[in-house]
Amino acid sequence: MSHPHPPRIAIYPGSFDPLTNGHVDIIERGARIFDQIIVAVLANVEKTPLFSVDERVALIQDVFKSRPNVQVDTFEGLLVDYAQRKNASVLVRGLRAVSDFEYEFQMALMNRHLAPGIETVFMMPAEQYTYISSRLIKEVFMLNGEIDGLVPPVVEERLRAKRAGRLAGRD
Ligand code: PNS
Repeated sequence: MSHPHPPRIAIYPGSFDPLTNGHVDIIERGARIFDQIIVAVLANVEKTPLFSVDERVALIQDVFKSRPNVQVDTFEGLLVDYAQRKNASVLVRGLRAVSDFEYEFQMALMNRHLAPGIETVFMMPAEQYTYISSRLIKEVFMLNGEIDGLVPPVVEERLRAKRAGRLAGRD
């Protein structure tokens, strides 16, 4: 069947340090709505991430390897410039709680100011993921807390390797 419109490409941007099941949930929802969803990992230098950009990209690619309309990429600079280069018309962001709203609202309106033709679409993850964030996952896991079911198994494996490396003084 041919598309009645040009392929609708969405960008799902973020740090993904690391990918959580909340992100996975949003990506799957996006992949059902849009023709293509590009998970775009911000390649910024000023933060000190747990996972390198290459590691984060590899993990996301692994989780979505059997989903042809999910692509993984990195970007630098303004998100809207990147989106325009990719011919994307939509930015996807997940909203977990009211506390996310203020920052997301500011970003959405700033992005609209910069690129009026690009629309931000918010999606809510399944309720069981509303309290998950990459930051809390890292903190809890590194302090030996249980994160079973909160991240994909490959991410948990890599976290385990990081923790073992830290204990051995390698990181
Ligand atoms: O999920 P995160 O880690 O909070 O993602 C934030 C992200 C990457 C979407 C945001 O920081 C961003 O878009 N950065 C790129 C630079 C940019 O365009 N800044 C202006 C945003 S209004």
